[in-house]
Amino acid sequence: MKPGKVDALLGIVFGDEGKGKVVDYFTPQYDVVARFAGGPNAGHTIIFDGKKFVLRSIPSGIFDEGKINIIGNGCVLAPDLFMAEAKELEAAGYDLKSRLHISLRTQLILPTHRLLDKAYETLKGKNAIGTTGKGIGPTYSDKAARVGLRVGDILDRFDEKYAALKARHERILHSLDFTDYDLSADEARWMEGVEYMKQFQLVCCETELARYLDEGKSVLAEGAQGTMLDLDHGTYPFVSSSNTTCGGVCTGLGVAPSRIGDVFGIFKAYSTRVGAGPFPVELFDETGDRIREIGHEYGAVTGRNRRCGWLDLVALKYAVIVNGVTQLIMMKSDVLDEFSTIKVCTAYRQNGRVTTELPYDTADCEPVYEELPGWQQDLTQMKSESEFPQALKDYIRFIEDYIKVPITIVSVGPDRQATIVR
Ligand code: GDP
Ligand code: IMO
Ligand code: MG
Repeated sequence: MKPGKVDALLGIVFGDEGKGKVVDYFTPQYDVVARFAGGPNAGHTIIFDGKKFVLRSIPSGIFDEGKINIIGNGCVLAPDLFMAEAKELEAAGYDLKSRLHISLRTQLILPTHRLLDKAYETLKGKNAIGTTGKGIGPTYSDKAARVGLRVGDILDRFDEKYAALKARHERILHSLDFTDYDLSADEARWMEGVEYMKQFQLVCCETELARYLDEGKSVLAEGAQGTMLDLDHGTYPFVSSSNTTCGGVCTGLGVAPSRIGDVFGIFKAYSTRVGAGPFPVELFDETGDRIREIGHEYGAVTGRNRRCGWLDLVALKYAVIVNGVTQLIMMKSDVLDEFSTIKVCTAYRQNGRVTTELPYDTADCEPVYEELPGWQQDLTQMKSESEFPQALKDYIRFIEDYIKVPITIVSVGPDRQATIVR
């Protein structure tokens, strides 16, 4: 953390790395926490004092009184889901109105965006992406097409603007023969959400952040999804529709590149992916099932099984380059406690050729593994690095030697407390 700088905490694989936990853990060190991309496709889990929260659109710094949390212009927001999420936090005793600001430029997810998401997925058949169904792709498409609605629009002649975009969407839905829907209940809740949003400070986040940074305040940008789901740099077309990488911090919050300080790259001690798309390290055997079981690898948003595999250093190295990662954070190390050996993917084999650089398409890549001894010890009660078994120290060293970036935090359990700084 440096005054006047924006540090970024980014998932650097396929999402669900534990961003929520670490943002919550880091928040006391920062003045402001801001989300810059994604929307309710995200599910960020935070556990402390025996309580568990899963945040979708609200930044994970929200539990710390006195800190400003911003939903940035690069995000997409569904008013009905936002209202439900915010009310749950308010019911748990957190006063959001003083802490949460929303960018006037944040794009709105309409109920019809969700229908379009479903329609497009259905149309793709076996090539479906396996989206979260939250309308993310259609909303970002409308943003790029310059027809989307933004939070600022709710303040003036909104009904008119809403009706025009909804009509546009319905024309598309009908042209796709997607007519079997009833919007009324959804739409009523959505409109209630729009009214509810008006109680919050709706801001120009770029101007607000520039002021904070000039005052010497520190900002933590909370990533959503992960590098391999980035619209440009991920496994396209099996990606989300925003820039989840470091460049997205600048465009998604309106901060200059020169303001970026540290870039924390967060990954799990193994790999997971939810949804379709290439995943060279995927395990289809008992080991994969065991990782899923121990790591509770089921989607926080959709409840789907997460696909599991060993750590992929080819993907990790690529993500470190794309994001300019300065520090690595390794999560869920405890999930590997019982394994006698642990494999790590250090290269891909594609058409008989071995490479350590991420190819354009990884669909036909086979992982090349190195095998390391497991630690077979319970990490969950450990409080400092000095307690780490040698095999874990060797695992950490192996990754650092390959990636050439230090692992500064090791997480050994889901609770806020189970976080070891090296
Ligand atoms: P995010 O989307 O990156 O915020 O991650 P998710 O919340 O979707 O998924 C991470 C899951 O792992 C959550 O259920 C967390 O409670 C859990 N978790 C986080 N860190 C650890 C850890 O070190 N060990 C274990 N066992 N679970 C963890
Ligand atoms: P967090 O922030 C894991 C995946 C979906 C799908 C693809 C596109 O919790 O890490 P979308 O609904 O965005 O159009 O879906 O991206 N996906 C995620 N996977 N974690 C996430 O967020 C994800 N957000 C989207 O499963 O494969
Ligand atoms: Mg998640």
